[in-house]
Amino acid sequence: MSSKGRVTISHIKAMKRRGEPITMITAYDYPSARLVEDAEVPMILVGDTLGMVVLGYDTTLPVTMDDMLHHVKAVVRGTEKTLVVADMPFMSYQSGPEEALRNAGRFMQEGGAQAVKLEGGVTVAETVRKIVDAGIPVMGHVGLTPQSVHQVGGWKVQGKGPRDAVRVMNDALALEQAGAFSVVLELVPTPLATLISKRLRVPTIGIGAGPGCDGQVQVFHDLLGLYGDFVPKHTRQYAQVGNVIRSAIAQYRADVEAGRFPTEEQSFGMDESALAELLTTDDADDATEPRPNGRRVPVHLSIPSVPPR
Ligand code: KIV
Repeated sequence: MSSKGRVTISHIKAMKRRGEPITMITAYDYPSARLVEDAEVPMILVGDTLGMVVLGYDTTLPVTMDDMLHHVKAVVRGTEKTLVVADMPFMSYQSGPEEALRNAGRFMQEGGAQAVKLEGGVTVAETVRKIVDAGIPVMGHVGLTPQSVHQVGGWKVQGKGPRDAVRVMNDALALEQAGAFSVVLELVPTPLATLISKRLRVPTIGIGAGPGCDGQVQVFHDLLGLYGDFVPKHTRQYAQVGNVIRSAIAQYRADVEAGRFPTEEQSFGMDESALAELLTTDDADDATEPRPNGRRVPVHLSIPSVPPR
């Protein structure tokens, strides 16, 4: 990663020329963006998978421009060097190049992103050209395009048969010709993805497309094991953060319920004379405070003087 300024699309294209594998991961908010940047990953995708892994929808279709902009801004605030790609949500570009350009422009101008991504091949090539001509870098996305999940009939590998394989290849070529700086290949058989990666001058970024792609992208929550109940076949879980979080929260709850948290260490004192003045006006019985666990906590002069943070 460049030590000064942000990674640019020129860096990403040069990585392909040098044969350096490109890593990309999704992030959706300020803390995840900071963690990704700390790991020196050159590109973040603020994906519309936001809808599924953060907002709890079944598909990406309900995600709106406003949802995306809110999260793109947070990710940009959490990064200084990483190239941030904003994913264009369903119906933000499908109705035509003019609307697509307007929405892509919002991601750059209001969101602070450095590039946008949209799904589709030959059918969106004119739209891609329009956005690129306006000076906005575009990442393409072919193979399985989740915004068309109902048209495709499910989350299926694309390009297994001869006609389908030619379609995926032509889609990728059309995006390159339209000026895309890279192309995501999602759920594409390894031999086809490898062939496309050799044919294209711009980098391919695979997800479920095998090791022959120029780079890889994965969803933050999948890689880190935030959800134990579903692990896509194309993911390797590098941690089980969900279990770590669950166990920490359960310990916190147990400590609160047992009166072990907070202790003096996490508490604040006050001026003793101010407290003494209060206590003289109070009934002695009121100088203790009931807690839900039945304990009464004394409010007396031994409260330590811990400086406020
Ligand atoms: O929205 C997303 O996270 C994506 C990746 C799966 C490539 O498009």
